[in-house]
Amino acid sequence: MRRVGVVGHPVAHSRSPQIFGHWFDRYGIVARYDIIPVPPEEADAFFADLPADLAGVNVTVPHKETAARHVATEGAGARLGVVNTLWRDGAIVRGTSSDGTGFLASLDAGAPQWRDGTGPALIVGAGGAAIAVADALVAAGREVVLANRTFARAAEVAAKVGARAVPMADIAAALAEASLLVNTTSLGMVGSPPLALDLAPLPSAAVVTDIVYNPLQTPLLAVAAAKGHATVDGLGMLLHQATVGFEKWFGLLPEVDAALRAKVAATL
Ligand SMILES: NC(=O)c1ccc[n+]([C@@H]2O[C@H](COP(=O)([O-])OP(=O)(O)OC[C@H]3O[C@@H](n4cnc5c(N)ncnc54)[C@H](OP(=O)(O)O)[C@@H]3O)[C@@H](O)[C@H]2O)c1
Repeated sequence: MRRVGVVGHPVAHSRSPQIFGHWFDRYGIVARYDIIPVPPEEADAFFADLPADLAGVNVTVPHKETAARHVATEGAGARLGVVNTLWRDGAIVRGTSSDGTGFLASLDAGAPQWRDGTGPALIVGAGGAAIAVADALVAAGREVVLANRTFARAAEVAAKVGARAVPMADIAAALAEASLLVNTTSLGMVGSPPLALDLAPLPSAAVVTDIVYNPLQTPLLAVAAAKGHATVDGLGMLLHQATVGFEKWFGLLPEVDAALRAKVAATL
């Protein structure tokens, strides 16, 4: 039986076993997807010599950079120096970051008109998820503007991916020209305050998306939908990023269907 899984610390909360279990059933694949807790002090040794019985793994916090140092990185993984998906290619272990791929696939599925927008994509936040989203949007040919509570982090991410950083104090002007607004902060998540943005300047054709997926409809998405914007929730990104590993390990690009969405949404 093929064995894959997710490596992190802590990692018990991961929804990946449900996602992969759904696809194993749907496509008749005999495999197991394990939760693999690896403490930080053991991470270098783990990734330097990935256990032979693993066909591949997903990698989550706090090991994405450590793993990248031990594998042959490709695509966004090479550009950003972080990986969340590892697979074997003969004797070589390769890795990439699928968060940006998942983000774009989710937008394409939920609001394909985002690609017709001519104004910049405005990303709020500058953490680990923001850099993957910004890199994917730049790679897709979009002008990207970043705003973050800590301006220095926005400037750092912008310099890394080829985007522009603006102070939060100037966000109204950035909103006025944006064709896509993305929340990549943890604000709006269950237990966190909402992202308090006045959306009045945002053009009505702009698409609004949140990568926070618990709750599915964040306060930001609720306000945007009430104002008539097309909105895309964060669950699609989580589901679509997992398709990259599945395809590498089992040779088949799995579908993100309504049944999978419903199954994972029910766990939120
Ligand atoms: N849908 C998906 O597949 C997916 C994938 C990855 C992450 N996520 C979600 O995305 C969110 C961010 O994840 P991450 O890994 O990027 O986290 P992170 O690296 O810790 O970054 C957190 C970001 O949120 C900002 N922030 C936090 N508290 C704030 C506050 N009170 N006021 C203003 N800004 C605040 C931080 O600003 P400062 O720089 O000023 O601290 C930073 O920009 C999480 O909710 C995570 O669950 C979703």
